Amino acid sequence: MASDTAVENLSESDATAELAHLAQVLAKANAAYHRDDTPEISDAEYDALKQRNQMIEARFPHLKRADSPSDVVGAAPAEKFTKVRHAVRMLSLGNAFDDADVTEFEQRIRKYLNIGPETALAFTAEPKIDGLSLSLRYENGVLVQAATRGDGETGENVTANARTIRDIPHQLNDAPQVLEVRGEVYMSHDDFSALNARQVAAGENPFANPRNAAAGSLRQLDSQITKSRPLRFFAYAWGDISEPLSGTQKGAMDRLVSLGFQVNPLTQLCDGVDDMLAQYRRIEMQRATLGYDIDGVVYKVDDLDLQRRLGFRSTTPRWAIAHKFPAELAWTRLEKIEIQVGRTGALSPVARLHPVTVGGVVVSNATLHNEDYIAGRDSKGQDIRGGKDIREGDWVQVYRAGDVIPKLADVDLDKRPDDAVPYVFPTVCPECGSDAIREEGDAVRRCSGGIICPAQVVEKLKHFVSRGAFDIDGLGAKQVEQFYRDGWIGEPADIFTLEDRFSTGLQQLKNREGWGEKSATNLFAAIAERRQIALNRVIFALGIRHVGESSASLLAGYYGTWPSFETAMTAATIGEGPEWDELIGIDGVGAVMAASLVTAFHQPAERASIDRLVAHLDIAPVQARGAVDSPVAGKTVVFTGTLEKMTRAEAKDRAETLGAKVAGSVSAKTDLLVAGPGAGSKAKKAADLGIETIDEDGWLALIGDA
Ligand code: IVH
Repeated sequence: MASDTAVENLSESDATAELAHLAQVLAKANAAYHRDDTPEISDAEYDALKQRNQMIEARFPHLKRADSPSDVVGAAPAEKFTKVRHAVRMLSLGNAFDDADVTEFEQRIRKYLNIGPETALAFTAEPKIDGLSLSLRYENGVLVQAATRGDGETGENVTANARTIRDIPHQLNDAPQVLEVRGEVYMSHDDFSALNARQVAAGENPFANPRNAAAGSLRQLDSQITKSRPLRFFAYAWGDISEPLSGTQKGAMDRLVSLGFQVNPLTQLCDGVDDMLAQYRRIEMQRATLGYDIDGVVYKVDDLDLQRRLGFRSTTPRWAIAHKFPAELAWTRLEKIEIQVGRTGALSPVARLHPVTVGGVVVSNATLHNEDYIAGRDSKGQDIRGGKDIREGDWVQVYRAGDVIPKLADVDLDKRPDDAVPYVFPTVCPECGSDAIREEGDAVRRCSGGIICPAQVVEKLKHFVSRGAFDIDGLGAKQVEQFYRDGWIGEPADIFTLEDRFSTGLQQLKNREGWGEKSATNLFAAIAERRQIALNRVIFALGIRHVGESSASLLAGYYGTWPSFETAMTAATIGEGPEWDELIGIDGVGAVMAASLVTAFHQPAERASIDRLVAHLDIAPVQARGAVDSPVAGKTVVFTGTLEKMTRAEAKDRAETLGAKVAGSVSAKTDLLVAGPGAGSKAKKAADLGIETIDEDGWLALIGDA
């Protein structure tokens, strides 16, 4: 069920179902690949599914599952080996799929570290080996343990097998007392062919590819079998270490070479993005003749002190990225362009394609993004695809790169039918006939019908009952559609009067297909249960544009109660006044979200609908997040002035990790102001309000980082 719906157009319930499905498929794929060495889907497809999962989570953060594939590295260890807990977690890498992603990666790092364009920022570039990672622990120069990655926290003990690999030294001279060397175990093409020939001759199944052969060979209970398999090892990183190998990534690699490890000979130091991309192309050119599989190029920040400052996100380092080689492409006919209308009225064009196989998956839909994209322009009015537009009947090139919703790469004008006409993007909503308006600076055209547009209303209702919102048992997308069609519910408040309005509701409902007495009783009970609900869920459930689940929690945490939130939104005027200033002063709330909130509370029909809903509810105030044991947990902190030892982003990440709330402006609620040189009005305001103010060193001392 690789959904073809653009993430932007997914309803909450579709997203919930798809995330559940993806969790299952990816867990299975992970186990097949990492644990059982028998992959069931291609790497490109795996990446695509994983990215699709991430995109859905980014749009619906509240739907993120406890077992989210995004937080999973590899698979849990197989039963047959003893387990090893990694002293330092073995992480995965984020992916870049094109040059723009690489540029963005570099920019993100500069921004995080506050490094201007005048300062050079060097990276290493090296092939991404398509094998399996291994961590080798040396104590006093002796190999004491080898462990696979497993799930990143715990791997499998394969020490005896690793000792049979000729690239892995058993003894090191002049090594740090503790040194974990990490790298990739792989098998060359020649060795792979020879092994498969032997397998077949012995009546065994051949391996699907060198990676599986390497994995299957390393994870043999009998190390004599591993010994008979020609495995190789490239070192590219380290884990636990008692003293640094070098000050730079390149230096560390050179040191590993001098200790006796193989480091990939195509590892190169690059002085910037152009150089990195040039190295990528050189490696790509040599790919076919290397004699072993690689699937991309890995870039790493060279300066290890900067690596340390950049640190990690949940499963990937900020200082490295894998630039993947491109996925497969295929040509097919675009049969029809259709428009889907989403919750916020966005008109999303979808290409219905003549089914075609791309990278082993049958594709029949692709996203067309928006009207400019179809016309051959980007958001700035610049040509894309050389300005070629897309028409019904065209031959189009489809690709799937890190995204399950396939995209179009190109159009073949030579094959364009004579009668093909330029696509005219609708200026009225196909669902309700209202004007579809495109505002200045917005790439998307939106239906202006609001509550008269059935598509918007249904999507809003689906959002309302979704997981991070009201999450009513027994009232999912399907039921909402049915109830809407039957005229039972037209807005959220109607859900809470459903039982009353139908004094015989139970009777009516249980006569419907799919409803029995038990499910109907359960539904009314589930609805009643949700009359008591947390503030953040209510704010999120309103489905206000730009207010996702984390923003809703942010707002709930800030305003605390419904009356205080509602009063503030009602009193605020877009762009001016103290309530507006307060709203955009909340760290994480920008002018766009703020304007959207204020508009929703001032639009009479929408406001009336909100009021009708709230009348049925008992909204619980939100308690401050806390529970981290640190001197700043639960405190509201504001940073101002120049920070000299870290950037704002670093300071904020650190403070939040320690359980503090970081605000953008000083108010009576501020507990602590951290003021660097050049602090101005905020420092004055803090002094006026009697708020404790410390400098950067004071902050570092407080959090124990000095
Ligand atoms: S660096 C903290 N460098 O790719 C980052 N990884 O997709 C450590 N891999 O788990 C990884 N070649 O198994 C690095 N030159 C290379 C690599 C490489 C292959 C693998 C490794 C990693 C996976 C991430």
